[in-house]
Amino acid sequence: MNLKYVKFSVEDQIGWIQFNRPEKLNALNPDVLKDLEKAVEYCDREDKIRVVVLTGSEKAFVAGADIQHMSTGNPNLAYDLSDLTTSVQERIADLKKPTIASIAGYALGGGCEMALCCDFRIGADNAVLGLPEITLGIIPGGGGTQRLPRLIGIGKAARLILLGDMIKADEAQRIGLLDRVVATDELKNETKIMALKLIKRPAVALRAAKTAMRKGLNMSLKDGLILEQDLFAMLFGTEDQKEGMAAFMEKRKPEFRGK
Ligand code: COA
Repeated sequence: MNLKYVKFSVEDQIGWIQFNRPEKLNALNPDVLKDLEKAVEYCDREDKIRVVVLTGSEKAFVAGADIQHMSTGNPNLAYDLSDLTTSVQERIADLKKPTIASIAGYALGGGCEMALCCDFRIGADNAVLGLPEITLGIIPGGGGTQRLPRLIGIGKAARLILLGDMIKADEAQRIGLLDRVVATDELKNETKIMALKLIKRPAVALRAAKTAMRKGLNMSLKDGLILEQDLFAMLFGTEDQKEGMAAFMEKRKPEFRGK
């Protein structure tokens, strides 16, 4: 893959997607978003990748959409940018594998919204998160007003969205925006430990659990329960279900094969 604004590598079945526009704190413009989309699509179709990590530099995960790019824009440009951002984010949210946002430094605006599309958010103790768009005279245009209240509740989301406050890692963890906070120099290692733990889990069941949660959020409870029941029943046709239950009965650790 020929990418300029994203570094991409695969290690131990983990796909690492690293934003790479350091001179602008990884601010998102269409070029960055297109590179990101290519890397995400690759991760989705490659079976050798089991977990996908989005990360940045020690100073910035992503400091938001590129304000310079937007500054002279009109509603048409804003629609196009929001379309592109939303389509990449949907690709991330719909990835069939688990995703981790591994965040050091600034995760603002579109960066915070990217992290909201992941299944897990691990923060370094220097992380700063927020949706400061209101301070620029706009509102989040990449899902922030929808995903943040769904994750942490509308009351807590209002502080970030209406006031535009930037918050530090410990507070982000307290309100549920970060799942964990670790020392900055331990971030990569802790992210890897979590990814390797996920890789040991049964892949088909992981995918089913993710589908049930994500699709279920957009359904009535009744329809969501039907979806869960169907996926639950489907898993009894997998080898991993036989292995998981046999291992329990035989008092040993299961060896899942993703089948
Ligand atoms: N868009 C475009 N450029 C950005 C950017 C963004 N969202 N965030 C940072 N940059 C650029 C700066 O303009 C600067 O470029 P320059 O050296 O060519 O002037 C470079 O990245 C470094 O940023 P700087 O502001 O000097 O770093 P800092 O450590 O003093 O401050 C921030 C860091 C994140 C607090 C500050 O850059 C900031 O507030 N950024 C905008 C955050 C935002 O509103 N995001 C939401 C956008 S919708």
